[in-house]
Amino acid sequence: MAKISVEDLKRIKEKTSQESSLRGGETTVKVTVHMGTCGIAAGARSVMNTLLEEKAESNRTDIKIVAAGCLGMCSSEPNITVEIVGQEPIVYKKMDPNKTRQVFRRHILKGEVQTDFALGKG
Ligand code: FES
Repeated sequence: MAKISVEDLKRIKEKTSQESSLRGGETTVKVTVHMGTCGIAAGARSVMNTLLEEKAESNRTDIKIVAAGCLGMCSSEPNITVEIVGQEPIVYKKMDPNKTRQVFRRHILKGEVQTDFALGKG
């Protein structure tokens, strides 16, 4: 197997951070669905599908929906993190399609944090 040099790692890191940076492009909102094994078992796939449907209906091309690993908080899965440029990230817990729709329509589209489902900031 070929060895990866420090330079290679730097290039990979740069590329990844540019792609995931909210400030780096057209993305102003990033929604992460935490899809570890327990997240998936708890229903993260239906949360992801709901987000993709809501995004399609909203016609907002600046919203990015991504899947990532778990946060290490099994008891609060499915979790999602909402990051809006210029605001602190909010983690939502125990999401289902209805709560997801509410978060999408009120927080993402109108800027109203849904504190009832919020696990925390950051
Ligand atoms: S396995 Fe990662 S939060 Fe449960």
